[in-house]
Amino acid sequence: MIIVQKASSAFKVGGFIEAPYFVDRDDELQHLHHDARTLSQSNVVIAPRRFGKTSLLRAVESRVSEEMLVSYLNCLGMVDSVGFHDRVVEAVLHAFALRHGRGKRLLATWRDLLKKPVLGMRDALAEIGGSIEGMGSIRLKFRTREVDAQALLESALAFPERFAAEQDENVLIILDEFQALVPLGEHIFSLLKEKMESQKRVVYLFSGSSLRMLHEVFGQEGKSPLYQMVGRLFLGEIPYQFVHRFYRERLREVHACEITAPALSQVTERVGGIPYYFQKLGVSLEREITIHDKKKITTRDIERAFASLLEELSGDFQERWETRFTGQQRAILKALSGGPMSVTETARLLETSPANISYNLSRQTEAMILTKEDGRYRITDRVFAAWLKEF
Ligand SMILES: Nc1ncnc2c1ncn2[C@@H]1O[C@H](COP(=O)(O)OP(=O)(O)OP(=O)(O)O)[C@@H](O)[C@H]1O
Ligand SMILES: [Mg+2]
Repeated sequence: MIIVQKASSAFKVGGFIEAPYFVDRDDELQHLHHDARTLSQSNVVIAPRRFGKTSLLRAVESRVSEEMLVSYLNCLGMVDSVGFHDRVVEAVLHAFALRHGRGKRLLATWRDLLKKPVLGMRDALAEIGGSIEGMGSIRLKFRTREVDAQALLESALAFPERFAAEQDENVLIILDEFQALVPLGEHIFSLLKEKMESQKRVVYLFSGSSLRMLHEVFGQEGKSPLYQMVGRLFLGEIPYQFVHRFYRERLREVHACEITAPALSQVTERVGGIPYYFQKLGVSLEREITIHDKKKITTRDIERAFASLLEELSGDFQERWETRFTGQQRAILKALSGGPMSVTETARLLETSPANISYNLSRQTEAMILTKEDGRYRITDRVFAAWLKEF
């Protein structure tokens, strides 16, 4: 008999993150789970890049999908209304097919709709009737250019509610990277508002990594299309004690390896509570453990793993450095790579006036590149900051 041993690693980057790899976020998960299942309010999750938005959203999806239809959609790559429409419909029908065998046929009909001859499809739709026929006819009319993209958007946003009512289900629509819909035009947000106000069975969960988007789409009275339509949830770094416990337990369980208290502090000293980085540092550390059969991790091991992490990421950081920032933004970042500073201190270092840098400071804070805390600015991504300081 061949025994296949399941590969197990102490840390994990990418893919679906669940126990034992999922750290903390209990309160957030409960909060979002509650709001979705009770349909009490839609929410937007805001966090800088790499803080674990997608993982949290997917955890909500997994928990909520026992009770309702859940459609997870990443808005990156939805370049037009047709893309938006097709992805929303596909996701809703896919969620339904997962919960009910009879949904498979609906899903198959929907897929045919995009490619089979229009005439035959009209009959197939008439046979199904209801919300599918309504949505499908408009999609066919779009194929034959009888309606425009606007009608398609409208149809996409109306479909989940109609379908849910017919099937006696509730629906959670998760739109990850919501800011990517901005180029589709303002109209999508006002339509969304209109639907959200009248829908009874659909609730939304958005995510974004820009305070500017939050402000423009959700924050301004009289101006923002979704003003006061959603609750806001900010994700910060994961508290250090959870990161420490995670390291201690994973290393012990998977490698029977101990880690010293100073080494644990060094982990969070280097990568803080940013999930992507503490997992990535863990992977790098794990390689050392396996190769050298280590039984005890010290500060030196963490330093070595961190150096190799920086080296691995330096291509990405270089690219970010060269393509994302203006000259003055770079100068600001360089100045702040030494540690947090106030506007006045930064200006002094750059030999300019505070007024001259305030625009870029706020732009970068809105993009969550910088974080303002107690009147001082710091680089949100501390690993990027460490790289900047070194190179
Ligand atoms: N709660 C968590 N516990 C442990 N690790 C996590 C957690 N959340 C995220 N991670 C780790 O961080 C990685 C990146 O997380 P995720 O993709 O969810 O972040 P994100 O905020 O969506 O990033 P991006 O801005 O790039 O879309 C995951 O692959 C995983 O390794
Ligand atoms: Mg993400």
